[in-house]
Amino acid sequence: MIFNNRLNNISEYHFQKLEMIKKEALKSGKKIIDLSIGDPDLPVENEIIQALIESLKLKNFNKYPPYEGIEELKKAIIKYYKEVFSVELQLNEVLILIGSKEGINNIIPAICDIGDYVITPIPSYPVYKTCCHLWGVNTYDLPLFEKNSYLPQFNKIPKEISNKSKMLILNYPNNPTGAIANSDFYKDVIKYCAKNNIVLCNDGAYNEIIKEGEKTLSILQFDEKKQCIEFGTFSKIYNMTGFRIGYAVGNSNIIRSLLKIKSNVDSGQFIPIQYAAIEALKLNRTYVNKIRKIYDERRTAVKEILENHNIHFFDGEGTFYIWCKTPNKFTTEQFCEELLIKYGIIVTPGITFSEFSKEYFRISLTQDTGKIVNTLNKLEIF
Ligand SMILES: Cc1ncc(COP(=O)(O)O)c(C=O)c1O
Repeated sequence: MIFNNRLNNISEYHFQKLEMIKKEALKSGKKIIDLSIGDPDLPVENEIIQALIESLKLKNFNKYPPYEGIEELKKAIIKYYKEVFSVELQLNEVLILIGSKEGINNIIPAICDIGDYVITPIPSYPVYKTCCHLWGVNTYDLPLFEKNSYLPQFNKIPKEISNKSKMLILNYPNNPTGAIANSDFYKDVIKYCAKNNIVLCNDGAYNEIIKEGEKTLSILQFDEKKQCIEFGTFSKIYNMTGFRIGYAVGNSNIIRSLLKIKSNVDSGQFIPIQYAAIEALKLNRTYVNKIRKIYDERRTAVKEILENHNIHFFDGEGTFYIWCKTPNKFTTEQFCEELLIKYGIIVTPGITFSEFSKEYFRISLTQDTGKIVNTLNKLEIF
């Protein structure tokens, strides 16, 4: 048998490997605390579950859903963007997705031909680069450094790269560093992309997961000509990872192109799940504050422990991740193995996010504060 040879350069999805390691450790009777994948431990609000159940009574709940998503959910997203970001959207500027990961994959062939270039930050959510390579698209690594608060420097991108790049992917609040972007940064990157005729795609998966009291931002607030696209998800802030529901908003031509791919390769999300998402958006904003408060408490507690144990970390304020440096010149693999074997802690090795992050690891704050604190306090002082 002869397989697609682009697969040879792609490894198994890292979190699938971690799942196997965890299973083995649990089988051997080891107590494990999983601080690796970004899958919230918090419950789904009752209103969301009730909406899902009630929607199963609808006449056509079992039918193929519309490819672009049900109009009620698109309208709920339009209302959300207006109320929270003061951004006006039309129905043809919204597309419902089976999780934002689906859209991140499908936007690549929607914009790029084989051999084209996409500028992707490193470190970053591994799906950007992997999916580009699967589609035969090249990537240019745009480095993010701690000294620049993990924001990229566009003036360092060589002219020959900007000339041949079709798309730039950004993600703030940032996975894995926890960095956030401000309005000046968004204005600059929009200008850079417009000047170089590059499609700007902002992955806003963690837009709502910032410090309590801070103002959440969408790139569309600064995109007067509506040339960009932004992905959003119900996975993180509403603890709905398994529901697989997300969306893309922004430039109607990009949305149309994305829908062309989507309608040829899959269908819309199950209708009751779309009604559950509408209910999520109807929750009072106090819900969002409650979640932010929980992650604030966990973030503060973990940062204090890391400081006490001489583990360097980036003082980010977004997402539910903390990006840390491995102590004592451990490589990321050695240190992650040490944490698992000695303390039963699973974290994500930095190498998952870039081959240049061999001295980093990521802690996910997706366990109860007490549990995280008790476990991390057992670490030796490095
Ligand atoms: C930066 C980022 N974008 C997108 C996603 C995908 O989210 P979903 O497909 O659940 O909407 C994740 C999930 O971890 C993520 O970290």
